[in-house]
Amino acid sequence: MIEEKINNLIKQGIESARDDGKITEFEISEILVEHPAQENFGDYSCAIAMKFAKIAKTNPMEIAKIIVDYLPKNNDFIKKIEIAKPGFINFFVSEQFLVEEVNKVIIQGHKYGSSDIGKNKTVIIDYSSPNIAKSFGIGHLRSTIIGQAIYNIYKFLGWKCIGDNYLGDWGTQFGKLIYQIKKDKILLKDLTIEKLEKLYVKFHKNAEKNLEIEQGARDWFKKLEQGDKEAKKIWQICVNISLKEFEKIYKLLDVKIDYCFAESFYLKMSREIIDEAIDKKLVVKSEGALIIKYPKNELPVAMLLKSDSATTYFARNLAQAKYRLEKYNPDLIVYEVGVDQTLFLKQLFSAVELFGWAKKEKFVHIAHGLVRWKDKKFSTRKGDTIHLEQVLNQAIVKAKKIIKNKNLSEKEKQKIAETVGIGAVKYNDLSQYHNIDIVFDWDKILNLKGNSCPYIQYTFTRCQSVLEKAKFRKAKKTKIIEFNQEENAILRTIYKFPEIIEKAGESFSPNLICNFVFDLSQKYNAFYDKHKIIKADTIEQKEFRIALTFATSQIIKNSLNLLGISTLKKM
Ligand code: ARG
Repeated sequence: MIEEKINNLIKQGIESARDDGKITEFEISEILVEHPAQENFGDYSCAIAMKFAKIAKTNPMEIAKIIVDYLPKNNDFIKKIEIAKPGFINFFVSEQFLVEEVNKVIIQGHKYGSSDIGKNKTVIIDYSSPNIAKSFGIGHLRSTIIGQAIYNIYKFLGWKCIGDNYLGDWGTQFGKLIYQIKKDKILLKDLTIEKLEKLYVKFHKNAEKNLEIEQGARDWFKKLEQGDKEAKKIWQICVNISLKEFEKIYKLLDVKIDYCFAESFYLKMSREIIDEAIDKKLVVKSEGALIIKYPKNELPVAMLLKSDSATTYFARNLAQAKYRLEKYNPDLIVYEVGVDQTLFLKQLFSAVELFGWAKKEKFVHIAHGLVRWKDKKFSTRKGDTIHLEQVLNQAIVKAKKIIKNKNLSEKEKQKIAETVGIGAVKYNDLSQYHNIDIVFDWDKILNLKGNSCPYIQYTFTRCQSVLEKAKFRKAKKTKIIEFNQEENAILRTIYKFPEIIEKAGESFSPNLICNFVFDLSQKYNAFYDKHKIIKADTIEQKEFRIALTFATSQIIKNSLNLLGISTLKKM
C-alpha cells in the first residue's frame, strides 16, 4: 500500500539523518502521514519535523529540509516532495502510480482492496442476537447490518471470521410468557408471534398493578430451568414460532450467520462456571444470591446466580466466553450490541480476566445507538413496537417509486425495488458512525441525489451502461495520458480504497467505506456530466476513460459487497 511505502520512506530518511548525526530525535509513531485537506498540499503530508523541532527547540523548516535530503530518491511512486510552512513535508504521488492503481483494479477485480494482514488470525463476531418471543427489534436490525459488514470487512482483510448469532432463547421472559399463557388458558396450537408479543405486553401491564404476578413468572422460569415437561414444551413452541419469523427477516436482508449457539446451549456450562467461580473464590453470597465483587469496586457487582438458584444472563455470557476461547482460540471477539449493554459487557470482559481465561483486551464492544423515528424510542415492553418486516416491506414499496428505467417488466421492477429498498435501509445505518443515534428519514434514505444507497447504485448502473455501449468485454490495462481535472479527481480517489478498507477494519467503521464510495460516485458523475467517453477525441482517451469507468464500477461493487448490498445492471 502506498501509505505504507511513504511511511517507510520517511522512516528510512529519519534513520539515515540520525546516523549521520544531523538530527537527534527519532521517536516516531506508526503512521507518519495523512491526507491533507487541501489538494495543493499534496496527496500525503507529514508533520514529524514540527514535533522534532519542538522537542529539540530548533526550526521545523530546517528539520524538514534535513529529512527530505535524506529520503531515498529512487522510486517511481512519488512525483515531487515539497516543504511547506511551518514544517510540513508534502508528497505528491506520480501519474504512473495513479494509472498503475487503475490497472490493479482491472487485474484484481473483485479482490481489489483485499489483503492478508489478518492471515492466521481469528475473529468471532457476535451479532444480530434477537430474543425469542419478542419481536426482532430495530436494534437487532442495526446489529445484524453492522455485524455483517464488520464480518465482511475482516474476511476481506484475510481474517478467519466466525459469525455467531447469540439467540436469546432463555431467561425470565419465558416465565412471564408461560405464566400468561396458562392464566389466559391459551391453546398452544393457536400461538402466533403476534399473540406472544401481546401476552408479553399484557403481563407487564398487569404486573405494574399486582406484584404477585412477578412471583408467578419466577416460579415458571424456575420450573423451566429444572426441566419441567410442560414448561419445556411451551418454551419449544415459542422458540419455533420466533425462529420462523426471524428466518423471514434474514431472508429479506439476505443475511446468513455462520452459527447460532443460543443462550440455552450454555445452560449446563453456566452451572459449571459457577462452581469454578466458587473454587476460585471469585464470588460471595449476598442475600441468597451469588455475586462477583470487582477488585477495588471498580465496577458494580455482577450476579451469577439468583436467590432462587436460577442462572443469570451474566452467567450464560461467561460460559459463552469460555466456550469460544477454548473452541476457537480467537485473537479477537467482537460483540455488536446496543450501547445500553455497555456496562454489562465491561463487567463481563473484566470477569473473564478475573477467571484467568483471557485478557479483556481481546474483547471489543461495538455499541450501536438508538434509531429515532419522530422522536420515539422503540420498545417492546411498552407495546409501541415497530415491526421490522413492515419497515423492510415499506422500503421496497417506496423504492419502487424511484425506479427510473421505463422499459422494465413488473417482475423486474419488483426485483430491483427489493435490492434498492433493502440496500437503502442498510446503507442508511452503515453510513453513520455506529455509536450515535440514527434517524430514520425515508426522504433521506431514498434520495437519489444525496449520500444514499440508490445514488450509489444508480452510479453503478450508469457505469454499466457506458461499458455496455462501449461493447466492453474484458478490461485492458491502460496507459498514462494527460488527464483533465475530473479524471484527476477520480484517480486520486481510487488509490485510497485499500487504505480505507484497512482503516474501516481497524476502527470497526463501515461508515468510512460509505463516505469513500459516495465520494467516488460524486467524482465519477462530475466527470460523466462533463466529458464524452465513447465519443472521446482520441482512441487513447476513449480507452482511458473506459478503464476509469470500469475501475469506478468495480470499486463501487467491492464497496457495496462489503456493506452487504447488491448492485444492479439497471434501475
Ligand atoms: N439477546 C441480547 C439482546 O437482545 C443481545 C445479545 C448480545 N450478545 C451477547 N453475547 N450478549 O439484548
